[in-house]
Amino acid sequence: MDRNLSVELVSVTEAAALAAGKWMGRGNKEEADDAATQAMRKMFNSINMNGTVVIGEGEMDEAPMLYIGEHLGTGDGVEVDIAVDPIEGTDMVAAGTENGLAMIAVADKGNLLHAPDMYMEKIAVGPESVGKVDINAPVIDNLKTVAKAKNKNISDLVVAILDRERHENMIQEIHDAGARTKLIQAVDVVAAINTAFENSGVDILLGSGGAPEGVLAAAALKSLGGEFQGKLLPQTREEKIRLNKMGITDFNKVLYMDDIVKGDDAYFVATGVTNGELLKGVHYKGSTGMTHSVVMRTKTGTIRFIEGKHSLKNS
Ligand code: FBP
Repeated sequence: MDRNLSVELVSVTEAAALAAGKWMGRGNKEEADDAATQAMRKMFNSINMNGTVVIGEGEMDEAPMLYIGEHLGTGDGVEVDIAVDPIEGTDMVAAGTENGLAMIAVADKGNLLHAPDMYMEKIAVGPESVGKVDINAPVIDNLKTVAKAKNKNISDLVVAILDRERHENMIQEIHDAGARTKLIQAVDVVAAINTAFENSGVDILLGSGGAPEGVLAAAALKSLGGEFQGKLLPQTREEKIRLNKMGITDFNKVLYMDDIVKGDDAYFVATGVTNGELLKGVHYKGSTGMTHSVVMRTKTGTIRFIEGKHSLKNS
């Protein structure tokens, strides 16, 4: 992959966000997702590359979603694996609340974990704590480790965790340890990314969320110099069979960042649809649309924040 791909990939999430933004705050998440998906597919197909969707929104017969196995790009050029999330935080976009984004990750062919749509236990930390946390360790041990690495008191640590019933015990453990929680409603990818930004106020992400989102978060944290560990959590017999087919028979297997995003070259790209902690949302004025995006590359560790001004006259 070359550097020029950054700009091309940003145009993909920009197009999805601009299309989804039209549905922001209209209470219709299906239409928003559909608009983002069509725009994303169209823009991908104008890029000179030979891509395959390994993390998508459905299986082949579930068109119009971007399905797993779908080929994207002109078919010429570099062979890549693609993870797509045309809208991460669909409820947020429909409601017009914070943190709805369009996002993708792209890596050389064979380098992205083909994570099925199931839950994943996650731990994410920023650069200071790399190599020090362990998803299998008790919550209190990881909190002590991160506090020490960041030279903070446990009482000053903030743990982002999805506000879900399944996390009741973990939330209690965090509070018992003396740390604070930031209970998030959705979009744990942004919370994972936040751990790598000192002024985000988030020190660590814990708990379970979507496995596809885990791959996107791992791609971002690999570029940001942080760490991500995950464990797939099959809930049903079908999900277990699916993991077996992937060659995963030990359901306790820890997936480290290099298992999830292999190699040293991957991109993570996102554009805000609604205003959020990481990026501003799409704003329209007359026939102009303004976008805010971030593009990260693991190979160089370059993080670019990009503002776009788009003429919507022909769209
Ligand atoms: P959408 O796919 O609806 O955009 O939701 C995304 C998300 O909030 C992820 O960020 C998170 O990993 C997952 O859903 C959590 O799932 P659940 O809502 O079932 O706890």
